[in-house]
Amino acid sequence: MKTPFGGIDHLGIAVHDLAAATETYRDVLGFAILGEETLPERGLKVQFVDTGDARIELLGATNDNSEISGFLKKRGEGIHHICVRVRDIDGAVATMKERGAHVIGDGVQSGAHGTRVAFVHPKTTHGVLLELVEHTPDNADANTKEDSK
Ligand code: CO
Repeated sequence: MKTPFGGIDHLGIAVHDLAAATETYRDVLGFAILGEETLPERGLKVQFVDTGDARIELLGATNDNSEISGFLKKRGEGIHHICVRVRDIDGAVATMKERGAHVIGDGVQSGAHGTRVAFVHPKTTHGVLLELVEHTPDNADANTKEDSK
């Protein structure tokens, strides 16, 4: 069966305190930090961490109604989602729906670094929220080593 997916882009980890988590990933674990971004419409502040291949996205809530507030309350800190790359997100979402996957909300929305993202519900994936991301040419280098400082 044809897959619309092109590898793991990043792993999202929900954290209570983004600044503290960033310090741990940088100073204890020794990863390079790629940079912080605030996504006000989603109530999120995120920090990308370079692991050498797939990145880690640390997710902090900026308000009690954010996408991860409920997750943190219910399940505490930990893996929140796995993100896979797609070349054509509209096509990938259509394929997922055709195959009976539960795509969350209206489908495609805006993600960090100007990307377009969509989410497949954990009840489809046996327990882990799956994010699909389409990088545009403008943000494609967000995924490369040149970006790490
Ligand atoms: Co993500």
